[in-house]
This record gives sequence, C-alpha cells and structure tokens, in this order.
Amino acid sequence: MAASFLPYGRHSVSEADIAAVVAVLRSPFLTQGPVVPAIEQAVAAKVGARHGVAVNSTTSALHLACLVLGLGPGDRLCTSPITFVASANCGRHCGAAVDFVDSAPATGQMSVAALAAKLEQAEREGTLLKVVVPVHLAGSSCAMAAIGALAERYGFAVLEDASHAIGGCYHGEPVGNCRHSAITVFSFHPVKIITSGEGGLATTNDPELAQRMAELRSHGIVREAERFERPAAGP
Ligand SMILES: Cc1ncc(COP(=O)(O)O)c(C=O)c1O
Repeated sequence: MAASFLPYGRHSVSEADIAAVVAVLRSPFLTQGPVVPAIEQAVAAKVGARHGVAVNSTTSALHLACLVLGLGPGDRLCTSPITFVASANCGRHCGAAVDFVDSAPATGQMSVAALAAKLEQAEREGTLLKVVVPVHLAGSSCAMAAIGALAERYGFAVLEDASHAIGGCYHGEPVGNCRHSAITVFSFHPVKIITSGEGGLATTNDPELAQRMAELRSHGIVREAERFERPAAGP
C-alpha cells in the first residue's frame, strides 16, 4: 500500500503567476525594479496601511522592524511561545533579551492576562519591555485592542507578526492596518497564505519608520549628500 503523508506545504501557482514571473525575467530588473514598489503599494492598500516595505523574508522584516523601533542591548522583547523562532530571534539579533508570554488555551495566541501580569511584575522590578511581538495564527488576529491599550499604559512598541494572517480581519478591519501597533510583518514563504517563493513585507502608518526600514534593507545607503554622516570636504 502506498504510504500517505501530510505534506509540509502544497503551493498553488497559476499560469498568470508564471507569466508575471516571466515578465520580470524578461525585464531589465531582476531585483529592486518597479515590481517592488507596486507590491508594496498593493499590499499596503489592501490592508489599509499607509506604507509597505518589501524585504527578502519576514525574518529580515522582523529584524529591521526591531532596529527601527530602537531595540538594543539592555532592552527586553516579548513574544508568543507558539511561533516560529524568527519572532524571538529578531530580539537577539539586536542584542536584546527575549522572554515569552504564555498563550491563551482557547486561541493559542498571546494571552492578554499573562502579558498584563508580566508587565505588572516588570514594572515592580524596573525591567519594562521595549517591544512586544504578538503572533497571529491561522488567519486569526491576537486581541490587538487590549494589547494596544497595554502598550499605551506601559510604553512598549507593538510589532505584529502576521506571517500567517494576510487577508485576516480584526474587529471588521484588515490585519496589517497597524491600528494597534507600530509595524506589522507578513511572510510570503511557500507555506504561508500567498507566496513569492521567499519574501516578507512590513506595513506601518509611520513614514519615518517606513523610510528607515527601506534604507536599512539597502545597507543604510542614502543618496542625499546632506544626510551623509561625513559630508565630502569642500573645494
Ligand atoms: C510566525 C512566523 N514568523 C516569522 C516567520 C519567518 O518568515 P520567513 O520565512 O518569511 O522569514 C515565520 C515562518 O515560518 C513564521 O511562521
């Protein structure tokens, strides 16, 4: 009898998808061409955010998001234990300490009660969090209004990991509109909802965060002479 198994992923690629890839292969740009801002604008418009920044993976998006949120050594980041390691590693990449907030049994997502308890303890001990990364699961959003309210009270930044939730809704609005967060990230890895082979995209309503993520994805290179850290010597 033939062995049956549950595949890790099974992607669906249409003839239109193949034609779109071929069009890029025939164009002068294989990378950083006009398709990149087109995807950024399309996703941002679809989820109701002002800005989109595309990167090579969500692992990179999480890392860049933490950098622009100012996470660094001496800071603390909390995420969910039911996740992929990238939502924790982004804190380590910035030199911060990483901690986990228990999941709510009914949803598998970050428990608001456990987060509130952790914050109360952190406040007593003077170890408040800099960034919290709630992870949405299977298209369904974490309790973002409650997490956002805690963010206002305790002064941390919320970075939504929506790798599994493009197209999802929360309180009738699209996941990724950043109503209760600074930045949301989406993954286009083949086991996610839509795929580009590999790829990730961050959305935000903050133009400064968007600009800094866009610069960091290109090694921090800027073209404007007045923004050079060491301006060229005069004649
Ligand atoms: C919750 C979560 N966050 C982040 C990632 C990383 O995504 P990527 O493979 O695009 O780097 C994944 C991928 O599995 C994920 O499941």
